Amino acid sequence: MNNEQQETTTLAFSEKYDETHARYYFEKHEQEFWRRLSNWRDHQICARALRIAGNPKSILDMPCGTGRFWDLLVKDPDCKLYASDNSQDMINAGLKYRPAEVASRFETFQGSAFNLPVADNFVESIFCMRLMHHIGEHEDRLKLLAELARVASDSILISLWVDGNLTAWKRKRREAKRKEKRYQNRFVIPQAVIEKEFHDSGLTIEARLDFIPYYAMWRTYVLKVR
Ligand SMILES: C[S@@+](CC[C@H](N)C(=O)[O-])C[C@H]1O[C@@H](n2cnc3c(N)ncnc32)[C@H](O)[C@@H]1O
Repeated sequence: MNNEQQETTTLAFSEKYDETHARYYFEKHEQEFWRRLSNWRDHQICARALRIAGNPKSILDMPCGTGRFWDLLVKDPDCKLYASDNSQDMINAGLKYRPAEVASRFETFQGSAFNLPVADNFVESIFCMRLMHHIGEHEDRLKLLAELARVASDSILISLWVDGNLTAWKRKRREAKRKEKRYQNRFVIPQAVIEKEFHDSGLTIEARLDFIPYYAMWRTYVLKVR
């Protein structure tokens, strides 16, 4: 695995995923009722996204976090699976707490999404859940998309927060009412903005899959690499 490009982007939020946070992240999606329901819906959407992408035969789950989607990704016994994250503690938690027969299907490596330590066209598809909504700057999003397009030969499945729904509208209204500006590490990206960024990065939109149409901010895009 190699990539000579230099690391140029660091995100403030990336630092919080230490061993303690990794354990917390693993448990919150497994234990609380609403999180479990939302996790179930995420899985349903991702299963559909994988079908639309043509059931790729090699996938990089990045950022894999604690392997929330590993049970879904292992369903195809013929798929070669990789998992990567900026935080080795998150990867370790996945390897420790997921069932051994699931975790052992993945070849894992630590790396930054902006500079993945792998060759061009390393996998058919990149599975990129819950990273993009942490990236507030246009230039950083373009860098991330360029790196994903370099590493994926065919498709990118990516989730983020978009506008055009009730929750985003309420969030914007709440922010406007606040007197002092609060530190933000999650962002709603207008659909028109992100879709232009996809286009400018040489990516075409195959599908838009909404968590709850017109209500929730989460959307998963299935993108094809041109
Ligand atoms: C909200 S979690 C999502 C994890 C997983 N995809 C999921 O949906 O459960 C965000 C993850 O992004 C990772 N991360 C943060 N900055 C990163 C970066 N620059 N490159 C790769 N991963 C990063 C964090 O370590 C964390 O595991």
